[in-house]
Amino acid sequence: METIFSGIQPSGIPTIGNYIGAMKQFVALQNQYTCYFCIVDEHAITVPQDPQKLRQQIRGLAALYLAVGLDPKKATIFIQSEVSAHAEAAWIIQCNTTIGELERMTQFKDKSQKNGRTGVSAGLLTYPPLMVGDIILYNANLVPVGDDQKQHLELTRDFVERFNKRYAQKNQEILVMPEVKIPEQGGRVMSLQDPTSKMSKSDSNPKGFISMLDEPAVIRKKIKSAVTDSTGIIEYDPENKPGISNLLSIFSAVTERSIDELVTAYEGKGYGDFKGDLAEAVVALLAPIQERYNQLLNSDELDDILDNGAEQARLVANKTLQRMKNAVGLGRKKRR
Ligand code: AQP
Repeated sequence: METIFSGIQPSGIPTIGNYIGAMKQFVALQNQYTCYFCIVDEHAITVPQDPQKLRQQIRGLAALYLAVGLDPKKATIFIQSEVSAHAEAAWIIQCNTTIGELERMTQFKDKSQKNGRTGVSAGLLTYPPLMVGDIILYNANLVPVGDDQKQHLELTRDFVERFNKRYAQKNQEILVMPEVKIPEQGGRVMSLQDPTSKMSKSDSNPKGFISMLDEPAVIRKKIKSAVTDSTGIIEYDPENKPGISNLLSIFSAVTERSIDELVTAYEGKGYGDFKGDLAEAVVALLAPIQERYNQLLNSDELDDILDNGAEQARLVANKTLQRMKNAVGLGRKKRR
């Protein structure tokens, strides 16, 4: 069976964008693949975090993984910082990656341009190797992510090719080459307030995103005030009508109705009707998830699942790490 790895940062409460781009795929894929789903908390500290809030968000994200339907019997669910192989592998990967490659990464370019190079952490430059490690440690063939992660996957593939070429003995591959898997619809959900920017959980304007824990009244209000245009015609045209096109993508992803079907159904109707129905569809999707989340959040069940997950993850990750250490010549040969 092929293997999947993916993760989400506990850098805030996940948005409907994280759900559509990532979590929804995770649930569908857990029946067909060996799956590792991680709470990538080490990535979250590349930007400043309040320690107490971070702890809550880690636990909250774990509870949401389960609440959306991930099944610990089918998938290994764990916290990145509880498997030390991630940080160790990241060091080996950094030493086999150039500064040029890392400086080209969009996240670093954007944030260092905004805050200056002295205003961002070194981790913001070096986190992509940590992400490469996340993927390769589990021998992942497939990585289901949103569209914004394409560049990281390209870096991972370049690294795997280089590492295997540089260190493989007798042509035996050390690391598995992963493929990216982006959903056909909803790979990039846009902000409700600025439909030309990606919806992000750390957006300073909460009106721009729907959090998976928003209450129904808040969801209705945010969708009602989503930016559209003055034509009042419901059609899919991301270039000229990014607002309504984004809402159509969200509607399609949460109801499994195609965009064409929705456009036909709302022909001659106004944005008000459309937004009202979309809000109810989002509320209906999130209500059972939130109920299950609240049951799980402070339960021992959640800790048991995370303890087990970390144990299972360590077994696989440590084996890959040992292969990497052997390949580059770190430490001593194991005594028999
Ligand atoms: N707007 C989005 N549309 C579709 N997919 C998205 N993802 C994120 N935003 C969207 C996907 O969610 C997964 C987890 O992402 P992450 O938390 O690791 O980091 P991110 O991509 O940086 O997500 P955010 O919400 O924008 O977080 P912050 O604000 O902390 O930077 C990934 O698969 C991602 O593609």
